[in-house]
Amino acid sequence: MFATVKPRAEGDFWLAQTHGASPALLFDPGRVRRTWRALEDALPGVTLYYAVKSNNHSTLLNVLADMGASFDVASAPEVTQLISLGVGVNRMIHTHPIKTDKEMAASTGFGVETFVVDNIDELWKLVPYRHDIRVMLRLAFVAPDAPVDLSRKFGAQPADALDMLAMAGSLGLNVDGLCFHVGSQAASAVTHAHALNVCIDLAAEAARREIADITRIDIGGGFPAQYGDVPVDFEHFCAPIREAMTRVPEHISLLAEPGRAISAPSMTLVARVIGRSHRDTGWWYYLDDGVYGAQSGRLFDHIDYPMVIYTDGVERSPAVFAGPTCDSIDRFGDQESLPILAVGDVIVIHEMGAYTVATACHFNGVAPR
Ligand SMILES: Cc1ncc(COP(=O)(O)O)c(C=O)c1O
Repeated sequence: MFATVKPRAEGDFWLAQTHGASPALLFDPGRVRRTWRALEDALPGVTLYYAVKSNNHSTLLNVLADMGASFDVASAPEVTQLISLGVGVNRMIHTHPIKTDKEMAASTGFGVETFVVDNIDELWKLVPYRHDIRVMLRLAFVAPDAPVDLSRKFGAQPADALDMLAMAGSLGLNVDGLCFHVGSQAASAVTHAHALNVCIDLAAEAARREIADITRIDIGGGFPAQYGDVPVDFEHFCAPIREAMTRVPEHISLLAEPGRAISAPSMTLVARVIGRSHRDTGWWYYLDDGVYGAQSGRLFDHIDYPMVIYTDGVERSPAVFAGPTCDSIDRFGDQESLPILAVGDVIVIHEMGAYTVATACHFNGVAPR
């Protein structure tokens, strides 16, 4: 964890934004619009499907829906939520590789058409729905520079892709897409570009063997949020993808499923020190938000959020931060040396919209904000 220290009085700016409430997540719709457009500009011609799982707050979904965004869903409840906000199912793809029959019945019942598979059992599960759906085959590619690896859990090996396409065809399934997710918060798009190139070649080979007509490739998520000092530049980040896009044949359209890159910048956490205790390891500061709240991503998403601390403390001491619950796991970040904080000091964490409230819970009766 790294922390920036600023004068306590400047923290009042943030408390004014929340009308004195803490913990609170401040939502900035302008950031959502700007980030979405920046990613669209960096990936010309690619249809973006916002990954609802990263943050399904209705206010955020509404901003995106109003912009005409499409959505990547993982469950029927996400489909229901979007429908309740007026989003048509033609703007949704269902990308969870593992589905129960109940899930399939519910999602197809709503009219969702696109589903994802990555294994043979799943192909069989889709057979009863084959007349109503289009299928994308998910392949595993790992970005070594992404802290969240999804390929160990999901994705068929590219070497097995043609056999799986052939089998899907023999089962009467319409597999018209290939997709991948290289891992979340990738440091570069080198793996996206490599995976796209492999998919282009597989699509050509599938056509040559007449086993599938691939008309779309979904390059997934993995686009980064800014957790450090260096601003994210989508134009620069996506350059390797644009290079690979020059090889995409005209009959193949491209999709992407950004989650974090869109939702993270949309929210800022404002928290306060609600208690402190001098223990043998130095000062412990108990905040009104912790790993069961908006900072749940510290556990589930492996992100070490940089803090901005507003205090008038001068004398320094080792410091440990903890959340408001009684659980010992609810602590984060030891600092070797920090000004000694006071109760009421303000902590602000930016880029707190992705995999934060989405994974928070009500442990100890403390409601996530
Ligand atoms: C299938 C799928 N698509 C998209 C995403 C969003 O990824 P990211 O937040 O890295 O953009 C995820 C994240 O887990 C995912 O599982």
